Amino acid sequence: MPQAKNELSDAGELNEILVKLEKLHHIRDLSTLLDSILLETRSLASADAGSIFLVESGKLRFSYVQNDTLFRNDFLASKYIYSNSEVAIDESSIAGYVAATGKPLLIADAYHIESGSPYSFNPYFDEISSYKTKSMLIVPLRTSRNDLVGVLELINRLDGEGSILPFTQKQRAIVNQFAFYAGVAIERAILLRDVVYKMVRMMALRDPEETRQHVNRVGYYAVEIYKRWAAAHDVPKTEMDHYMDILQMSAMLHDIGKVGIPDAILRKPGPLDPAEREHMKLHVIFGAGYFEDPRSEWDTLAREISLNHHEKWDGSGYPGPVTDMGIDRLPGLPGKKGREIPLSARIVAVADVYDALSSKRAYKDAWEEDRVLYKMREESGKHFDPEIVDIFFEIYDVITAIRQKWE
Ligand code: C2E
Ligand code: SIN
Ligand code: SIN
Ligand code: FE
Ligand code: FE
Repeated sequence: MPQAKNELSDAGELNEILVKLEKLHHIRDLSTLLDSILLETRSLASADAGSIFLVESGKLRFSYVQNDTLFRNDFLASKYIYSNSEVAIDESSIAGYVAATGKPLLIADAYHIESGSPYSFNPYFDEISSYKTKSMLIVPLRTSRNDLVGVLELINRLDGEGSILPFTQKQRAIVNQFAFYAGVAIERAILLRDVVYKMVRMMALRDPEETRQHVNRVGYYAVEIYKRWAAAHDVPKTEMDHYMDILQMSAMLHDIGKVGIPDAILRKPGPLDPAEREHMKLHVIFGAGYFEDPRSEWDTLAREISLNHHEKWDGSGYPGPVTDMGIDRLPGLPGKKGREIPLSARIVAVADVYDALSSKRAYKDAWEEDRVLYKMREESGKHFDPEIVDIFFEIYDVITAIRQKWE
């Protein structure tokens, strides 16, 4: 086994790390970032599986998992099995030990840990998933100020034939170095996510229907629909990842403009009269106004979605080709039509209406699922882009899994 002690010895390897880090630098969404960090570190160390715990309220929360053996089909529902467990930050568990001490750790066999070690392996995940963890490499994730943000675990280093080897000292050094820069990117993504969640909470104070659940569902539906669309259109993987990254949070904010609508309208228990209805339509303009001075692609997409999510494929939606975000009533222009409507908004329209119909609102009860699906199909080519409706039905199992997770 090659044994270059601790140092990143050759320029080729260093360059490989820099290329991988450069990618992280552009990612904004937290789950996309965790996904990339795992993918890149697993490839650096030939690991079959890996997971990330993030610090939340003084504990480590199991936040993301990749496992080539278990999730060959990248089926989203299986990832969610794991998503709600916590580990204390103390020396009794492996992840807790690394978090508490700040030291990376190599374990040759999780089921035969050296006696005298303070930590022990918790076989819970192995038991529920019938996976067998053996070798492990665990490193802390820290910010530039050295605050702990989480722990990265790589599991089962594989050789070319699929046999499990221990991780090496050198891999520990490389992954630890990588994790240091990844921690900085995670911190930045957490900051942005927190701002988005604060905006969502602000919206929920005004409109009790706009809960974190609703908003999360729309964000995840949109991402999954886009993923399938991108595959069908041969969008290159890097472009697809990048777009998914910014789509998730932008889609979550599609209705942020509702904060500008008076309570008497927003929370009216019954149907709106025509004047109220017109006023309500302004939420798409108010929302776009928040992102009027776009500083990033993320702002640009959030603006695009906010402005266009009530346009309809047949041209009967709103607000039409408005450019002035300072207006206080809609000019009554005809709606945008077909592919004039940005893809992002065609996707969010399907996600949003599906969710609105299947949920209770101040002004309506939740519809039966059959009725909702019938309506989605019926509006294909009228309200919705038919291609997006087809995709919605193709991934309906994933849609259901997301709904269960965020109900
Ligand atoms: P929302 O509740 O998030 O609904 C989003 C979209 O889902 C609606 O956009 C509409 O396209 C669809 N949708 C929701 N409920 C129904 C329904 O019962 N039947 C049908 N056919 N479609 C439905 P829309 O119509 O542009 O409304 C935008 C927002 O205006 C709604 O967001 C809601 O906040 C408000 N709103 C719409 N109609 C009413 C109403 O009658 N009363 C009250 N209080 N608010 C309403
Ligand atoms: C732990 O013991 O560190 C948590 C479970 C795991 O690492 O798989
Ligand atoms: C994209 O993939 O970035 C959007 C393309 C489109 O609007 O059709
Ligand atoms: Fe809306
Ligand atoms: Fe909505």
